[in-house]
Amino acid sequence: MNANSGSLSVFLIFLVLMITISNLLTLGKTEFFDYQQNSRILSLGLNNQIGFDEHIFNETEGHCTLLGADLNEQNQPTKNKYTKMNGQLFSGRIPDQLPISEMMKKSGKKSVELMKIDIEGGEFNGLEPFIKEYPVCQIFIEIHGAPAKHLQMLQTIAKYKFRIFNVDVNPLCPLCCEYSLINEKCMEQFGVTPLDIMIP
Ligand SMILES: *[C@@H]1O[C@H](CO)[C@@H](O)[C@H](O)[C@H]1NC(C)=O
Repeated sequence: MNANSGSLSVFLIFLVLMITISNLLTLGKTEFFDYQQNSRILSLGLNNQIGFDEHIFNETEGHCTLLGADLNEQNQPTKNKYTKMNGQLFSGRIPDQLPISEMMKKSGKKSVELMKIDIEGGEFNGLEPFIKEYPVCQIFIEIHGAPAKHLQMLQTIAKYKFRIFNVDVNPLCPLCCEYSLINEKCMEQFGVTPLDIMIP
């Protein structure tokens, strides 16, 4: 274990304590599904890997609207698969070339059920203005950087009533970690019950 992954482990222990102190959600799932028609999905940072998008499309039996984005234009197989799923693709650097809200305006959507975001740092400036303006139910975010960066980003998201329900470390990237968060306002819709406060 190198120094960086060591400090991330310490941070994760701290984080788990924070989660235990706050209301804890049922762990062990990376997303909650609602089989309502036409869930709106934002998938930011595709890099020609659309397993998440296909998974959601399959699980909802096609009842979803997929909006995908990446810094670069996607290759032809990815474009073809996205078209088959009736998805819409955007390219540009988030947020300066491509504000997330622009994707919503262009697609005529007003809210988001699931939002996946892995945009190599663009989340630090791009995410907050978006969740301030648009209702979002669940966020799956890969955060890159020193532990303090993770904490800062999570605190920012938490201001908008999101609670962490899953944390996954990335074995290939010692300073990366993927967090799943759900908005308090959506817990009932997704059948999620926060556990009691364990430490007062
Ligand atoms: C989704 O369903 C298609 C068609 O049944 C299948 O080829 C594909 O592997 C599935 N993808 C995922 C990620 O579940």
